[in-house]
Amino acid sequence: MAIVLYVVGTDTGVGKTLITSYLLRSLKQHGLRVRAVKPFATGSLADARSLQKGHAHPRPRLEEITPFFFRKPLAPFVAAARLSLLPTVRRASAFLLQSAREADFLLVEGIGGVAVPIRKDFLFSDLIAAVPGKVLIVAPNRLGVLNHCLLTYLHLRCLGADDIAVLLNDVNTIDLAAKSNQRALKKLLPNVPIFKFPQLVDDFEWSDLSTIMVRKSGQRFWAWIQSNCGKNHGKPAPFTNQPEIQKNLRAPAGQKN
Ligand SMILES: Nc1ncnc2c1ncn2[C@@H]1O[C@H](COP(=O)(O)OP(=O)(O)O)[C@@H](O)[C@H]1O
Ligand SMILES: [Mg+2]
Repeated sequence: MAIVLYVVGTDTGVGKTLITSYLLRSLKQHGLRVRAVKPFATGSLADARSLQKGHAHPRPRLEEITPFFFRKPLAPFVAAARLSLLPTVRRASAFLLQSAREADFLLVEGIGGVAVPIRKDFLFSDLIAAVPGKVLIVAPNRLGVLNHCLLTYLHLRCLGADDIAVLLNDVNTIDLAAKSNQRALKKLLPNVPIFKFPQLVDDFEWSDLSTIMVRKSGQRFWAWIQSNCGKNHGKPAPFTNQPEIQKNLRAPAGQKN
């Protein structure tokens, strides 16, 4: 069975596709059989196309990368109404398990942040609970990221995931906070590996990237990526099924739900 590595974000536009493409190419260079998928997408299949390019021939078809595509650029929860193949945790899990066959690594790009609602009773994170794996939180290295990382981390811990790392991505303008974020996160989340990914030049070539994380966050990153998964193969519960969460999601008495 493949190591399943979820590449989730604190938000959209934070570098999930770029990091997934990078991991796909780098792990492939190490001779590993890698598959990258993005089960859900809205508005465009651009991410699926990016991931498709990183695969060796014969490349998977777009629908083998993104089986649940919502044409409207809206949250899936809103856009899914008229989809022929409605996403369910069961269908999405079956897709992941099928994709993981004959691979050493299955990279799974998330959509938006971890609590993106796919349908009324299905958050993206429910898929992580159904098919456990390592989780890499991609977070933009700028002011505000400490809050976003803690929210994402706590949500994931709530559903039982415990093999979690953060990748601070120098995605765009580097502000003053970018200098101290990694140190601050290490203090706030002492048991979580915190890595950094550098800002890339505009005309970067994928062939230049092979040594990037070796030079920067170094061996620790690859050791974490390749370390044996299975720590969190306990009994994680889907987030939306937890009684406490259900209770809190309900509108206060007297308010219309
Ligand atoms: N480290 C980086 N250096 C430069 N540009 C980056 C970096 N990470 C992401 N980007 C750019 O930021 C934009 C959003 O990244 P993307 O991977 O599509 O985010 P997401 O998948 O989270 O929506 C893209 O144009 C991407 O090329
Ligand atoms: Mg993306």
